Amino acid sequence: MADKLAAEGGAPVRQKPFPGRPKFNLADAHHLIEALEQGTLFFPIAKKVFDFQRRFADMYGVRYAVASTSGTAAIHVALGAINPEPGSEVITTPVSDLGTVAPILLQNCVPIFADVQLDTFNLDPADVEAKITERTAAIIVVHCWGQPADMDEIMDIARRHELPVIEDCAQAHLTRYKGRLVGTIGELGAFSLQDSKHLQCGDGGVTITDNQEYGERAELFVDKGCDWTEDRKYRVRYAFLAPCYRMTELQGAVLCAQLDRLEEIVKRRQELGDMLVRLLQGVPGVHPPARRPDREHSYWSFPLRIDEEVLGVTPARFGELLVAEGIPAGGAWLGKPLYMFEALAEQITYGSSHCPFTCPWYKGDPVQYYEGMCPNAELGFRQLLCIWFHEGWTEREVEDTAAAVHKVASALTG
Ligand SMILES: Cc1ncc(COP(=O)(O)O)c(C=O)c1O
Repeated sequence: MADKLAAEGGAPVRQKPFPGRPKFNLADAHHLIEALEQGTLFFPIAKKVFDFQRRFADMYGVRYAVASTSGTAAIHVALGAINPEPGSEVITTPVSDLGTVAPILLQNCVPIFADVQLDTFNLDPADVEAKITERTAAIIVVHCWGQPADMDEIMDIARRHELPVIEDCAQAHLTRYKGRLVGTIGELGAFSLQDSKHLQCGDGGVTITDNQEYGERAELFVDKGCDWTEDRKYRVRYAFLAPCYRMTELQGAVLCAQLDRLEEIVKRRQELGDMLVRLLQGVPGVHPPARRPDREHSYWSFPLRIDEEVLGVTPARFGELLVAEGIPAGGAWLGKPLYMFEALAEQITYGSSHCPFTCPWYKGDPVQYYEGMCPNAELGFRQLLCIWFHEGWTEREVEDTAAAVHKVASALTG
């Protein structure tokens, strides 16, 4: 007989609280003091952000790494480097943060959503290809949850249609696809350095590329299109319209410290996450992330899909039962595909204009986002339950989580 659930008065699987994520140590403080001792926190005339950019570029084996204020900014910088014509279409996934899509609209382009694969939440290459038109200017791929998308297939499509690819690596830092780091496979890679990410400084972003034209434009785009003299004392010109996304030395200092720990953080998440996947095989009605054999998974979070038909409860209820067992479950990331949020569904953009959807530069049929547009993305979100996972866990936390999932599932299925 199944053990009595903690929610019904049974003993919880886990008695002790889970450890918090260990984010900072004295190395961060040391770099911050060095930053303050420079007498300025303005990166163009200081060192920390430049050090971070150089080290990040070296780590990825590319010529350019351009730091900015957020992951959203990093994607905007990447798109600004490509410089699509207004009214172009950019194909991307609806399973992401709005930070993947806002830059498309900010560049006066129209987001076109392709569906995802249900078992990984990553873009379905066939649907990406089906969405290409003569107006398509770029593809933005998200490596969802930390597992790389099908990059060979996507790059093949992109090359055949001569389209640049931006990899949104916000959730997939230092993660390899067939031995290559994601972020270096497409023309540009963009990373969020926000608090929850593998590499973080509270808020920040970085864009990488090995392409000289894109790299030089990215460096200008992050700073209002501004070119400086060699000694960075004077502004030379404003080359084109661009926002100001300069990172400060405070973020740069923390990143210099965090970068030393990144490899270890990612490795630990990979080990613990893969262990949890193994321990959750064969639980009725519970689908751990599908693992593709040719790529790593760095587990920004740990998504479960809960099959209500098998278990007789919603993912939210399953999460409550896990929480009663002492497991940090719940809070399904976002809850629905991006196009179902009002900003996109109702095309709430500049004033009352609905631009760029209604702009004269847009030559396609009117774009409408509707429920049912990407069925896998919608079903995936309906089934989603996140386990908030991090590198501060030990094998013990993984075992307890697996034991609780087994216990709840077997109590529900009798
Ligand atoms: C896949 C993805 N892209 C973009 C972003 C935006 O990053 P930021 O919040 O740093 O702007 C996020 C943030 O979580 C994300 O998960």
